[in-house]
Amino acid sequence: MVLFRSRRFLVISRILFLVLDSLLEFADSAAKDVPLINMQVVAGDPVYLPCDISTPDPHDQVLLVLWYREDLGTPIYSVDGRDRDFGLAERWSDENVFANRAYFMPEKQPAELGVDHIRESDQAVYRCRVDFKVAQTRNSKVNLTVI
Ligand SMILES: *[C@@H]1O[C@H](CO)[C@@H](O)[C@H](O)[C@H]1NC(C)=O
Repeated sequence: MVLFRSRRFLVISRILFLVLDSLLEFADSAAKDVPLINMQVVAGDPVYLPCDISTPDPHDQVLLVLWYREDLGTPIYSVDGRDRDFGLAERWSDENVFANRAYFMPEKQPAELGVDHIRESDQAVYRCRVDFKVAQTRNSKVNLTVI
């Protein structure tokens, strides 16, 4: 009985967490001040999606960069430096979206997500979310049109 209760508690708290997380995510992306740029790319060409990861504070650092495809709602590419130096951050790319066509270039000004061999199905609004150690999370969007 006790086991059953605690298991149920775990399930409920997990669900609550997921609900809260998606609410926060929704509030994040619905924020009016998220800058949006329009980009056009010819199918088959590469595209470079900008994402400003710069920080004015030299003591601050980037912890995590997440790219979302807005119509999917889940991250499709991540650079996770939460438990290591950002230069050694672990990269992950959704197999069903860009897979190995995408590569993040943090040294560019601004940083860019390069994506090779753009397909018609890549047309979408993408959002880059940058989490810092100190500064507030920064979001920016790219409206990608494939021609
Ligand atoms: C994205 O761009 C297309 C074509 O350039 C335009 O029709 C569409 O309204 C834009 N979407 C957003 C969210 O700005």
